[in-house]
Amino acid sequence: MAKLIDLRSDTVTKPSPEMRKAMYEAEVGDDVYKEDPTVNKLQEYVAELFGKEASLFVPSGVMANQISLKVLTSPADEIICEKDAHIFHYESGSPAALSGVQLYPVAGENGIMNAEQIEDAIRPKEAYYMPRTKVIEIENTHNRAGGVIQPLKNITEIRKLADKYKLKMHLDGARIWNASVATGIPIKEYASYFDSVSACFSKGLGAPVGSIIVGSKDFIKEAFRVRKAWGGGMRQVGILAAAALFAVKNNIERLKEDHEKARQLARAMSEMKNIEVNLETVQTNIIIFKITKIKAGTFSKKLAEKGVLISPTGKNTLRAVTHLDVSYSDIYSAIEKIEEVQK
Ligand SMILES: Cc1ncc(COP(=O)(O)O)c(C=O)c1O
Repeated sequence: MAKLIDLRSDTVTKPSPEMRKAMYEAEVGDDVYKEDPTVNKLQEYVAELFGKEASLFVPSGVMANQISLKVLTSPADEIICEKDAHIFHYESGSPAALSGVQLYPVAGENGIMNAEQIEDAIRPKEAYYMPRTKVIEIENTHNRAGGVIQPLKNITEIRKLADKYKLKMHLDGARIWNASVATGIPIKEYASYFDSVSACFSKGLGAPVGSIIVGSKDFIKEAFRVRKAWGGGMRQVGILAAAALFAVKNNIERLKEDHEKARQLARAMSEMKNIEVNLETVQTNIIIFKITKIKAGTFSKKLAEKGVLISPTGKNTLRAVTHLDVSYSDIYSAIEKIEEVQK
């Protein structure tokens, strides 16, 4: 069978030969004793890249978000997030289970909340019978909204609001690299508005495993404790940190190519009779689109028979994601197959 063109997610990438070489050659030690030189190198490198005091390597994006929220809150606190946030839909109810907190989802436009909406959601201090608002969480880029970038103006206004109400801010920056490359705004600048940031190496950057939490020294000290308590302490994990370090040093700039491929694919789909795409939301490597003639599940099954994998996200909606294991010729071939199936 011909090569599968896998557009389900940017998490499906396989480590390149160069990345595997870096993993093979990694110096390692026991990271629970903080003695893994490659992990330490990665943590220093990323803290510097984000302009923060410290960082902590963790197994996954979910763990990075959940440890951050745990450190920022006390039980019965409330976290304001957008209604399509990853922490709300795709983290197995962990804020409630692990931190004893609840989420207050706010309906943004294409994943973007403004300061006014957030201010309406902040609980009055004197209302002792209400939960306490503690954190504002923002996702950049926003996955479920289709890789949409949070405008810096909104972020700065929300930070002012957070300062006014003495709230903390957490950034789910699983794909912050994509936002930075697309806008030219340095990662440091994005990170500067947040108390804690999570970011993933295992998505567009192409590493097999790993995420990072970035913040102040005190914050990371506490995060280190929570990571151990939740069973996330790892030993000779420099082998994985080497892949992450390789990814962050070599694979950020090339994300531009993924964005260009997504634009080409989205433009072609927008011209197809039975597909609707809002091109305004195609700002990075994710395309959310609607199929009007058949159900999304049927569409993705028929497409899979032709060797193209795309994830249904609803009855009529699907998600296609470009990444470093999809070439331009794969995109042209996917366009042909999508055209045939949507008819
Ligand atoms: C925005 C966002 N945050 C967090 C995560 C969680 O990452 P992981 O799958 O590594 O736990 C994802 C995964 O897709 C994501 O898209």
